Amino acid sequence: MTRPTAALLLLAALAAGCSRSGAVNSPATPAEPAADARTVFEKRILPIFKSPDPSSCVQCHLAGVDLKHYIRPSHEETFVSLRDQGLVDLDDPGKSKILALIQMGADDQAGAELIPAKTRKAEYEAFAAWLAAAATDPKLRAAPKLPAADLAGPKRPVEVVRHARTDRLLASFENTVWAMRFRCMGCHTEGTAENKKLVEEHGERVAWVKAAGPAATLAYLRASNLIDADKPEDSLLLKKPLNAVKHGGGQKFLPGDQGYKAYRAFLDDYARTVKDGYPDAKSLPKPDAGPRKFGTDIWLKLENTPPDWGDRLAQVDVYAWDAAKGAWEPDPIATADRGVWGKGRLWQHNLTLLAAKGSDRAKAWAANGPSLPKGRYLLKAYVDRKGRLAKDWTAKLDRDDYAGQVEVTSDWRTGYGKMTAADAGKVR
Ligand code: HEC
Ligand code: HEC
Repeated sequence: MTRPTAALLLLAALAAGCSRSGAVNSPATPAEPAADARTVFEKRILPIFKSPDPSSCVQCHLAGVDLKHYIRPSHEETFVSLRDQGLVDLDDPGKSKILALIQMGADDQAGAELIPAKTRKAEYEAFAAWLAAAATDPKLRAAPKLPAADLAGPKRPVEVVRHARTDRLLASFENTVWAMRFRCMGCHTEGTAENKKLVEEHGERVAWVKAAGPAATLAYLRASNLIDADKPEDSLLLKKPLNAVKHGGGQKFLPGDQGYKAYRAFLDDYARTVKDGYPDAKSLPKPDAGPRKFGTDIWLKLENTPPDWGDRLAQVDVYAWDAAKGAWEPDPIATADRGVWGKGRLWQHNLTLLAAKGSDRAKAWAANGPSLPKGRYLLKAYVDRKGRLAKDWTAKLDRDDYAGQVEVTSDWRTGYGKMTAADAGKVR
């Protein structure tokens, strides 16, 4: 049974601040404490238990844990269950951990829009009033322990509770949709000159990349009709850039390209998370072992592309020269993919910079913005001649699709007008 696990871990996490050793108050004994506490429970806690509405926890926990999970139909059992998990402070009920959990999001502005302050206040006041009454009942205080399997707590194991946290969701969003925003932001970033023009024509909806950053953009998208949590692959956020639903910006994604992969992985995981579709730790997506991705406005073009690249998806990986080792770095420092313009014999796109998670390079780019130093670089080109990615969006271009390599020297200035160019005719 996984049920008590998360609750017990929580206990451990919160134990540091635990202050129950000190003053040992003798239990007060008012006239009819049990009846009083029971009335409060039935009037104020049971409605929370029975309500179809989410509790304040959803502000940060998309699934896996809810205030309801800590409540049992009976007043006695609920109290003993909370008591046994260390969530009640018998001597100072106002300091109970369950109250701290309810207060967790009280000063979090971003999430506050999702949960009205009055929901949290009502939960807090109901639990505070009930615990104050129940903790004075000597019978409840002394009631025998519940068997571990009867403890009421999170429905999902702790790994799932963690995966479904909104801060984890934001981290995943930043490394997927947000990292790929450069393909879209010219037209869709709120407040830019181009966006203002488009807003006049199409309305506020085209301003979906929020000037305030990734958290604001994610909050907007979650509340919009652009994500279809029932069928994530049908989300407008994917179908518009594919031009599968007519798109004012034309076709921006090819099925299976890096932008598509990033959006699709985010949408699939988001939908499954909010549908509580991960029953256990092993059903969770594998942790992304790949590098951290940084979108940029650094452009690269390959001119004079060979005829057999024409209108295929081509990917270019960029390798930096390691002067100390006298060799190319083993992992690409940047990548980009895009359909080749066969008639114009041209491939061009903006680069996504890559750095191992936690590396000095990743830290520096996160702090100061991503950039590439001036120097020698090796470009390795892959061309999807067999149309593999259109058939299976999860497929990756590999050795079989390798078209060759060419060296460039560049200072990688940013902006479409300052593009680094290489001759695809020299790719061997
Ligand atoms: C403002 C955001 C926020 C709100 C609201 C919130 N939590 Fe949490 N919760 C967190 C964070 C962040 C963690 C991880 C804390 C840590 O690891 O130190 C966490 C951890 C937990 C854990 C421990 C799981 C683990 O990783 O060990 C449980 C259980 C939990 N919360 C339950 C609740 C319940 C029940 C509510 C509603 C009454 C709630 N939380 C409301 C942010 C929140
Ligand atoms: C050249 C400008 C341009 C670019 C670049 C562009 N779009 Fe658009 N997009 C538009 C215009 C104009 C509309 C409004 C008309 C329409 O709905 O198609 C639009 C609408 C949308 C909508 C519908 C918004 C709504 O709420 O109805 C989505 C979603 C969208 N684009 C996604 C994207 C994504 C994702 C990218 C990048 C991969 C992108 N667009 C790049 C011009 C652009």
